[in-house]
Amino acid sequence: MAAVSVNDAHRIAVPQLDMPPRLLLGPGPSNAHPRVLQALSSPQVGHLDPSFIALMTEVQELLRYAWQTDNSLTIPVSGTGSAAMEATLANSVEPGDVVVVGVNGYFGERLCDMAARYGADVRRIEKPWGEVFDLDEIGEALDAHRPAILALVHAETSTGARQPIEGVGELCREMDTLLLVDTVTSLGGVPLFIDAWGVDMAYSGTQKCLSCPPGLGPLTFGPRAVEKLARRAEKVPNWYLDLTAVSRYWGSERTYHHTAPINMNYGLREALRLVAEEGLEKRWERHRRNAQALWDGLEAIGLRCHVPFEHRLPSLTTVQVPEGVDAKRVAQTLLRDFNIEIAGGLGQLAGRVWRVGLMGYNSRPENVSRLLDALERAIMAA
Ligand SMILES: Cc1ncc(COP(=O)(O)O)c(C=O)c1O
Repeated sequence: MAAVSVNDAHRIAVPQLDMPPRLLLGPGPSNAHPRVLQALSSPQVGHLDPSFIALMTEVQELLRYAWQTDNSLTIPVSGTGSAAMEATLANSVEPGDVVVVGVNGYFGERLCDMAARYGADVRRIEKPWGEVFDLDEIGEALDAHRPAILALVHAETSTGARQPIEGVGELCREMDTLLLVDTVTSLGGVPLFIDAWGVDMAYSGTQKCLSCPPGLGPLTFGPRAVEKLARRAEKVPNWYLDLTAVSRYWGSERTYHHTAPINMNYGLREALRLVAEEGLEKRWERHRRNAQALWDGLEAIGLRCHVPFEHRLPSLTTVQVPEGVDAKRVAQTLLRDFNIEIAGGLGQLAGRVWRVGLMGYNSRPENVSRLLDALERAIMAA
């Protein structure tokens, strides 16, 4: 056999890592809190080490606080928010289940796509991007479709609209429907009461209002959702995200399923510790106050928000791009000249809005003033 020699073609010399100090005021990720970054570099232990097992219990308990739930199946899924989204659907949807999805933005579309891949009979209810569904519309959809699951996006990151969830849980119970809510851009920044609102399943991400880097997807399943999972006729059609197996590692058995991302869990623990230290009411109020300052400041420089005041998210604001202004160019100037990241619109809102996030650690008055000043200059220069 001919000897194989090492090919050095890809052996490039790269300098030591030196990333730019961006202020991340887009739709996510937000900047991680310095204490979270510090926690991430704590000494590694094994995923079955008693110290890690104790940490897992703490993360679960702190997640229950952040979500205001007593659900025992409350865990961080390995992967980003989309992994938790997929875990929620893979475990709850059985082929042929009718799933009603509220589509008023990009992430409602993603829910439809994922649910259909797991065999759901998806029925869409739709609204223009930036609007929300009212209780009557939701009640009518439940009546018309009698779904196994109703899926709504609490905080639509593509539009900046906050979908009211209060009252939806009661409607779902009358129809024996499970209520699934995307809380990726609300957990830790926007009032959210999983148990009091009758939410049966929710998922989130770490990189938005929790101010932890992306990498874990918190998920919570209430008793009715756990019951549906236990009644499944077939195995969950996704090995990695099968909660019947994953929850044995996160439950009392602690049986190996896959290697938990150890250091990411250190980071999430610290992020959740910060939430508990501040207290939810104070944290929600801080997000509201800084968002209000942003909205007032935008108005003062002649800019308008896309979403009507009563449905605006404090964590994500969509700002209308003035006539004749090149949205992309302004965002590029902000990044290049001011080290500030914001994003443009998606789908129906592409080219029409900028998306500005004030999430977690980044929701601070000095960031609001820094952005307003830079945005005004970037628009003038465009
Ligand atoms: C509302 C919403 N749902 C789901 C996701 C998917 O999360 P990830 O990008 O972390 O996979 C996002 C990410 O921006 C989101 O904003």
